[in-house]
Amino acid sequence: MGVRIVGTGSYVPEKILTNLDLQNMVDTSDEWIKVRTGIVERHIAPPEMSSGDMASIAAKRALELAGLEGSDISVVVVATTTPDHTFPNTASAVQRNIGADNAFGFDLSAACSGMIYSLELAYSLLMQQKKYRYVLLCGAEKLSCITNWNDRNTCVLFGDGAGAVILGRCDDDDSGQIASDLHLDGNYSEILQLPAGGSRNPTSHETVDKGMHYIHMLGKETFKLAVNAMAGACRNVLSESGVNAADVKLVIPHQANKRIIEAVAQRIDVSTEQVFVNVHKYGNTSAASISICLDEAFRSGQLQKGDIVLLVAFGSGLTWGAQLLRV
Ligand code: COA
Repeated sequence: MGVRIVGTGSYVPEKILTNLDLQNMVDTSDEWIKVRTGIVERHIAPPEMSSGDMASIAAKRALELAGLEGSDISVVVVATTTPDHTFPNTASAVQRNIGADNAFGFDLSAACSGMIYSLELAYSLLMQQKKYRYVLLCGAEKLSCITNWNDRNTCVLFGDGAGAVILGRCDDDDSGQIASDLHLDGNYSEILQLPAGGSRNPTSHETVDKGMHYIHMLGKETFKLAVNAMAGACRNVLSESGVNAADVKLVIPHQANKRIIEAVAQRIDVSTEQVFVNVHKYGNTSAASISICLDEAFRSGQLQKGDIVLLVAFGSGLTWGAQLLRV
């Protein structure tokens, strides 16, 4: 018995914000953004659209591809840093919107590593609990609502969107998780955070006046930590499993910055052709990025049944990890 990805879906809002648009908003340039990050444009959700709305559209597309109904889903997980509300969870909005009447579910908070963490749960649940047939994992973010559009250090980096992955048990023994390596380190929590809005600093006039409801990030520090952590996690899953980097069909890294992706690829010795990149189209969509990539890779035929894929991410927490899967 194995576990296999039976469907994927994704959604990005229609509105595109280009680097040229940003040139008119803050002191930046198309050239600087492209060279330093690889980002060309990103999608921005309209005010009335939430992370849960985007996740629901992505989930419906995944259900359609899998040939399943909402009622077939046993578990709904939504990885997000921009939930619709503090409570109820965003998973309940997705459950309602897709008619997942037989599911339980919850949100998962692991910033950009959300899909890597969610996959660990999904593979474990499906392998150990026969009563769960299909698990729906969504990664969804409306980062535009926590972005300070006057801060050029951060506003050029992020975008909105959602992806969905459905996993199910299958007869094929080969499909499944080959190895995983997950980490959490709270010693660097201040380099990348949303300072206010939680129980540490509840929202007040003062927190809003100080812009504490926006993403705060020390870019250079984050960059260095991300490269080392992501390369380390990739090396760990490869050495634990005995799989050669050359046998990995596709490496799908979290899409934060093209230079981070290139530095990781170089350290683990994979070719450019093996690395999936779409950061130029969407920017950093945090928890959504890996599931959007997976959907594009499957639908374009770059990933096919039986392929080995290496997923790797790094995010606030710090959280990071890698998943080596046979899909
Ligand atoms: N346009 C033009 N100049 C900018 C700019 C922008 N949008 N943002 C920053 N700069 C300036 C800085 O002010 C600095 O100017 P100074 O030298 O006069 O002080 C200069 O560019 C270099 O800034 P620096 O922060 O050293 O650039 P960098 O090469 O580290 O690139 C990031 C900045 C943010 C792109 C990069 O650090 C990064 O991607 N970090 C990781 C971000 C990330 O992945 N976060 C999420 C993790 S999941």
